[in-house]
Amino acid sequence: MAVRLFEGKEHASSYWKYRISPSEELISKIMQFLMSNKEQPYELAVDVGCGSGQGTLLLAPHFAHVVGTDISPAQLEMALKHASSPNITYRECPAEELPFEDGSVDLVASMSAFHWFDHSRFLQEAHRVLKPHGCLVLLNYTLDMELSYGDCSEALNNICKEYYAALFPYRNPYLGRSSLDLYKQAYNSLQYPVKEW
Ligand SMILES: C[S@@+](CC[C@H](N)C(=O)[O-])C[C@H]1O[C@@H](n2cnc3c(N)ncnc32)[C@H](O)[C@@H]1O
Repeated sequence: MAVRLFEGKEHASSYWKYRISPSEELISKIMQFLMSNKEQPYELAVDVGCGSGQGTLLLAPHFAHVVGTDISPAQLEMALKHASSPNITYRECPAEELPFEDGSVDLVASMSAFHWFDHSRFLQEAHRVLKPHGCLVLLNYTLDMELSYGDCSEALNNICKEYYAALFPYRNPYLGRSSLDLYKQAYNSLQYPVKEW
């Protein structure tokens, strides 16, 4: 079973406005991993559960073509509006049914989205579409982090802790107590000869 949220237009528009992008540093780590496992050319990357496309944009300079896929038309509408690179396209589809040929994709990435998918069906599907030595990337962040901002870091972290504690009872049970556990489970289940946490 997968969970569908992110459907409202207002939600998608706030998501575009406030969503923090993955860092360039993280993207270059991904590229280093890909380069050490697979030779060029890098023709196709797929950003599954791309949302409003912040991560898709970051992948675009490294591949001939990048396709962002998502199940939410509202998110894709925002992504399209901000697609600033001619090699990006977007497709509406479930993560568990990717519209790509077997062995056709160099990199399958999912940024802060895998936890909403049907995990085993998505992992099988990613495996099907990847080229030999292609790379699967599952990114996420956890709430167990320290923020730093000028001289108010301590106050900021205290506010965040209070805020997360207040929201905790409303957490979607699908995610379990911590999405870190869920990612560790997926990582441990993967039988690839080379993998990196
Ligand atoms: C938390 S957002 C992450 C968006 C983007 N990757 C980012 O990092 O900003 C999760 C996205 O996954 C999408 N999603 C959830 N379940 C999905 C599924 N089964 N198939 C495709 N997309 C899905 C949602 O519509 C949403 O846009």
